[in-house]
Amino acid sequence: MEVLVLPTAADVARRAAGIVIAGLGAARRAEPVIGLATGSSPLGLYAELAAAVRAGSLDLDRARGFALDEYVGLPVGHPQSYREVLLREVCAPLGLPPDRLRVPDGSGRDEEALVAGATEYERLLAAAGGVDVQILGIGANGHLGFNEPGSALSSRTRVKRLSDRTRHDNARFFDGIEDVPTHCVTQGLGTVLDARRLVLVASGPGKASAVAAALEGPLSASCPASVLQWHADATVVLDEAAASGLRNRDYYDASAAGL
Ligand code: F6R
Repeated sequence: MEVLVLPTAADVARRAAGIVIAGLGAARRAEPVIGLATGSSPLGLYAELAAAVRAGSLDLDRARGFALDEYVGLPVGHPQSYREVLLREVCAPLGLPPDRLRVPDGSGRDEEALVAGATEYERLLAAAGGVDVQILGIGANGHLGFNEPGSALSSRTRVKRLSDRTRHDNARFFDGIEDVPTHCVTQGLGTVLDARRLVLVASGPGKASAVAAALEGPLSASCPASVLQWHADATVVLDEAAASGLRNRDYYDASAAGL
């Protein structure tokens, strides 16, 4: 695992974008697959990727995008459904054709339909050849995707209940907490681990304890993001505030400097 600590969130976005672009290029695939997180954390990164597209150094015309997760039960076209968020924040500005975006299906009317949708999502991921570069954020409670604390480390895409903490954290995107769905369909931790390269971005003091637990705590379902420790090609890009709880900072800095 590589840990890069940079002065500001803008630096995090720039550096992470460079890693994503390099990773997609290194995949050497006609139709590379980019794994897409939602939430606030990757917005700066997406803006940097959009700038690269405008500058001609990135072309996602033949790429495929796979979302990490989706809420269950939001009406089709709801502006906060992750499909709509990604159409807005990624497809339009980055030139990823909307018909090449896949999002877990949270529209199933009952458990059977949701489970069938989750199974189909895993099939689609495998048919696309897997994710080349997976962009990730981290929840303040250590969740990864919507894998809340307690999630099985080998889990696959499935329906999960959202924790109260996550619903409160995400209420800012809705009119109120009562509008935040209670359930989601999320890639499992095992699904995330199948991606060839992981790039996690975090900024701000609110993420410091989750980042410290994920990077320096035990590999544990209690902190789902700790599965990054298990992945052979994971890079974590942090600003100073998000890195403030790390104990091995000197080592990360020396490694990043090539020492
Ligand atoms: C979103 C996702 C979540 C977020 C996490 C952080 O697709 O999978 O794990 O990355 O909740 O959210 P922000 O970035 O809004 O703090």
